[in-house]
Amino acid sequence: MSDTPAAPQARTDASSAPARIRPVQDSNLPAIRDIYNHYVRTSTVTFDEEETDLAVWEHKRELLAETGLPFLVAADADGGVLGFAYAQHWRAKSAYRFSAENTIYLSPDAAGRGLGKALLEALLDASARAGLHELIAVIEPTAAGASIALHRRYGFVDAGHLKGVGVKFGRTLDVLFLQKSL
Ligand SMILES: CC(C)(COP(=O)(O)OP(=O)(O)OC[C@H]1O[C@@H](n2cnc3c(N)ncnc32)[C@H](O)[C@@H]1OP(=O)(O)O)[C@@H](O)C(=O)NCCC(=O)NCCS
Repeated sequence: MSDTPAAPQARTDASSAPARIRPVQDSNLPAIRDIYNHYVRTSTVTFDEEETDLAVWEHKRELLAETGLPFLVAADADGGVLGFAYAQHWRAKSAYRFSAENTIYLSPDAAGRGLGKALLEALLDASARAGLHELIAVIEPTAAGASIALHRRYGFVDAGHLKGVGVKFGRTLDVLFLQKSL
């Protein structure tokens, strides 16, 4: 997939050029790790409690490339990573091959300015082109209001509510499933 301008265009601040959405490159993986680890340390939007190392992201990149599923980054004009999104098979069993869980994270500085919409829109398009039929977002409801709003805006509908399935920072946590047919 070639570089394409983000649509709708997202600006990282009033004066910057539009972010570009493009497939991940190996050189992006340290920045992706750092963005993700920020949320591991500070938030219940992820249920990871230990920071991830580069090998986790190298493995994920290889897995997604092997399975032909999208792994995208939003980059600024200098190539700096502002956020990332990917779709990974929902379960390993083969009958699930047309279903994936989608994931999206922005750098805290890049959130709340429309970039999530641009990145999710690009991921939906890439997921459909990859042959996926169903996407599932798994969201912790108390921390991820923006994620719920973002997914609903793009047609994800409620598909389940698991109660008390996580514990982080001493709190018991639910998860919502939101689903979209592509
Ligand atoms: C979730 C995330 C990707 C959304 O991206 P974003 O660029 O911040 O969101 P956008 O500016 O594109 O806005 C998307 C929608 O959410 C709404 N929104 C944004 N921030 C919000 C907030 N804090 N609470 C509620 N709604 C919010 C916007 O109004 C917009 O809806 P609208 O177009 O109908 O008005 C981003 O905030 C993020 O990375 N958050 C931390 C990590 C995370 O939660 N990842 C998802 C894990 S499930």
